Order: sequence, then structure tokens, then C-alpha cells
Amino acid sequence: MSATVGPAALQLAAACQSSIERATMTGGCGRLRPVEATQLSGELTRVLVTKDQLAARIAELAAEIDRDYAGKELLLVGVLNGAVMVMADLSRALSIHCQMDWMAVSSYGSGSKSSGVVRILKDLSTDVTGMHVLLVEDIIDTGLTLSYLVTNLRYRRPASLKVLTVFRKPEAARNPVEIAYVGFDIPNEFVVGYGLDYDGLYRNLTSVGALSPSVYG
Ligand code: XMP
Ligand code: MG
Repeated sequence: MSATVGPAALQLAAACQSSIERATMTGGCGRLRPVEATQLSGELTRVLVTKDQLAARIAELAAEIDRDYAGKELLLVGVLNGAVMVMADLSRALSIHCQMDWMAVSSYGSGSKSSGVVRILKDLSTDVTGMHVLLVEDIIDTGLTLSYLVTNLRYRRPASLKVLTVFRKPEAARNPVEIAYVGFDIPNEFVVGYGLDYDGLYRNLTSVGALSPSVYG
């Protein structure tokens, strides 16, 4: 199950954006963290998913995970750095116990496209043999990085292995790896915020927006 970013979501995002604009114009911007102002300064073309939408969707996914893993020992494996925000929010939204561990990978590729040839920069500290592993990703684009990670983790013989991603782009449909939990299906645009970066920046935006070509052009 996933939420598609449709017209209603975009209307909500636009409403949120204009309320931020109003707050800024009426001098209420003192309540906004400075980084939020970058959402309005032309660096983002639009907000795709607001902070509130993210929180609501993470709560829904956590409720599903609570049900699916009831009575089981769950290990959340976050893929650094992008999954930091969702790991923090998801783990705290769960009612069941969970352990947390991390992997960091780098994908060899040309430009911004991944090649599927992946190097492990940081491996798990946990022996996952016999454990119920939920791999937590920020975004699946081609799915090549995910394919590598899933194959690699399967070799370690977990009791079960499922995948959660906050965002999924259309190209992922061409990849055979099943994704059990999807936050939002989004269009094929470069997005930043909620852990997603461009050149190391924007990860700490609380909402997620499309990066303006003026930034990366
Ligand atoms: P693949 O194609 O292997 O790539 O699924 C997934 C990785 O590519 C990065 N990626 C993005 N990062 N905004 C980002 O900040 C995006 O829109 C985006 N699309 C792909 C990201 O590192 C992800 O783990
Ligand atoms: Mg990533």
C-alpha cells in the first residue's frame, strides 16, 4: 500500500506553502526555523509532501508494522544517510519493540544515476541470521541499490526480510524487488528534504520538495 501524491496532496501542499508565505509576510516568520524559508526562496519549485503528511503516513505505516510483526523480534536496518529521519520517526511511532542498525553504501554511477554496482561503506554491527529484518530506505529510484542490498542481506539468512521506503519513483516498477511498505509514490523529479539531500544540503527540511533546476543547473 502506498499513498500517491495526487491533486489533493498537491493542493494541501500549496495551502501549506501559502500559509507559510502568509506567516512570513505578516511577520509571523519568527516561529519558522530559518531552513524552512529556503522552501520559499526559489530553491524548491514546489512542496510535494508536507511535514504533517509525512507524520500521518509514518504513523499509518507504523500501525501496519505493529500488526505484521506482533510477537516477533524486529530489526530496523536504516540505509545511511538518507534514512536517518524516517528511522527516528518510524521507530518512535512503533508500539512493538525493535532494534536498530545501519548500513552505508555508495553506488558507482555516472552523474546522479546509480549503476547497481554498490560498495559497502559501513556494514551492520548485528548478526541478522534468524532475525526479522526491515530494510528502511529514503527513496527508491531505479531500485538497483535496493536489489543489491536485498541480495546481500538474504545471504545472511534472516528469518524474514522486507523493505520500507518513504518515497518511490516510477522507474522502480521495472525492478523485481518487492517493497512491502511505501510512503508515497512520487513523480520522476529530484526531491530534497526529510533526509534527502542535494550536495549534502536540504536533509533537514521538514517537508519534501522538488529542487529547482536553478540550484543544480
Ligand atoms: P536507485 O536508482 O539505485 O537509487 O534506486 C537510489 C538512491 O539514489 C538517490 N536518489 C535521490 N536522492 N533525491 C535525492 O536526494 C532524489 O530525488 C533521488 N532519487 C534518487 C538516493 O541516494 C537513493 O538512495
Ligand atoms: Mg539513499
